[in-house]
Amino acid sequence: MSEKHATLTIEDNSYQLPIITGTDGDKAIDIRQLRNSTGFITLDSGYMNTGSCSSEITFLDGEKGILNYRGYEIDVLAENCSFVEVAYLLLMGELPTQAQLNDFRSLLSRFALIHEDMIHFFDHFPPNASPMAILSTMVNTLHNFYPEMTGDSGEELPEIAARLLSKIRTIAAFSYKKSVGHPLVYPRYDLSYCGNFLNMMFDKPVKPYVVHPQVVATLNKLLILHADHEQNCSTSTVRLVGSAGVNLYTSISAGISALWGPLHGGANQAVIEMLEAIHQDNNDFEKYIKKAKDPNDPFRLSGFGHRVYKTFDPRATIIKRACEQTLKALNVDDPLLEIAMQLEEIARSDDYFISRNLYPNVDFYSGIIYRAMGIPTNMFTVMFAMGRLPGWISHWMEMMGDTKDRRIGRPRQIYRGHKKRPFIPIHERV
Ligand code: CMC
Repeated sequence: MSEKHATLTIEDNSYQLPIITGTDGDKAIDIRQLRNSTGFITLDSGYMNTGSCSSEITFLDGEKGILNYRGYEIDVLAENCSFVEVAYLLLMGELPTQAQLNDFRSLLSRFALIHEDMIHFFDHFPPNASPMAILSTMVNTLHNFYPEMTGDSGEELPEIAARLLSKIRTIAAFSYKKSVGHPLVYPRYDLSYCGNFLNMMFDKPVKPYVVHPQVVATLNKLLILHADHEQNCSTSTVRLVGSAGVNLYTSISAGISALWGPLHGGANQAVIEMLEAIHQDNNDFEKYIKKAKDPNDPFRLSGFGHRVYKTFDPRATIIKRACEQTLKALNVDDPLLEIAMQLEEIARSDDYFISRNLYPNVDFYSGIIYRAMGIPTNMFTVMFAMGRLPGWISHWMEMMGDTKDRRIGRPRQIYRGHKKRPFIPIHERV
């Protein structure tokens, strides 16, 4: 807590509000006592200027395009680590030693199966069910099958996290297999986290899947880049739901639902649908740019813009590079890559996008990579959810462990409805 204060003057009265400074110099005015001392609340729709907590997990500077997990730069982690290593870092606060990583990997293998009774659920979703709805439902119901692993059960954190990380991967792959009507492929103990997922997705009795090292490397990178992003919409949802005392699975299930939205994680699917529409429209970029700029048209350039990043999204820079490399290595010639690059070039030289600091975000190129890997479009946001899981768990755990500042999330409002008025019985109403 800092000794510096900000002075707030309301009419003739002045109030001293403490200033809080973060590790990297980010500043906040502490208004926790504001209503008690002044009778005022602050109004901040979309929480554009509201800090909901202090956290030790991820640092983000949107003006400088910086993203660090637990003090480590995102590009260094993406270049040198596996997703499992980064998940461990986010969850435990430190990079693992080789022995710790081996133990964590063994836990992931141990917990990879889901209860066989859960498998029947997949049979009863309609054929075109959204994999995001399936994922959210199945993660929520994990609580019924594994009530002992709720996150506040006194179990060790690595076990709780490994169970969820491992089972979400199995659920995601099983939901795909069911949707295409293929037999399920069970997890294997000899494969890496990403290799195992790809094998469960694509192995077939008639055509065994050969795990491609380039695909595994790219998937690792993508999951690392999605692993946390401090207080974004879905993570804030996980914290908010958890703040009511709800178990870990249900809180994560709510986060998955929030992620589904096209303004959040659902943007990776929306980007591909937009690029396909442009392609079918004979690459009529002008039409889509015009629509995106029209204040009366709800259409936006998906994969462009960010609440926090105002120069560039460091994740997007890495993903664009990975996209070109991966398509080349897999010998995939996707016309959507060319369309995406042209669209980016046009938007980045257009005053509308320049003046509003709108740049490609993490979702702009990721879908093209998933397509090249053979992942269907409606599974893209599931991939995002798998990546974001270590972040969600870490934030839920951090919040639950904060016995000093933890409170149920409960914003206030300014009421603008009717004043109190007399009740009119139904037979007298006209
Ligand atoms: N295309 C066209 N105009 C845009 C776009 C866009 N993609 N994004 C923002 N704008 C305009 C917006 O219309 C507004 O214009 P004006 O000032 O004239 O009213 C201005 O830019 C500011 O936008 P905003 O909606 O106030 O900004 P926000 O911080 O509330 O929204 C956003 C951030 C990400 C929701 C928004 O940029 C957007 O809708 N982008 C498209 C969806 C998308 O790609 N989402 C993924 C985000 S990154 C991954 C993740 O975190 O999930």
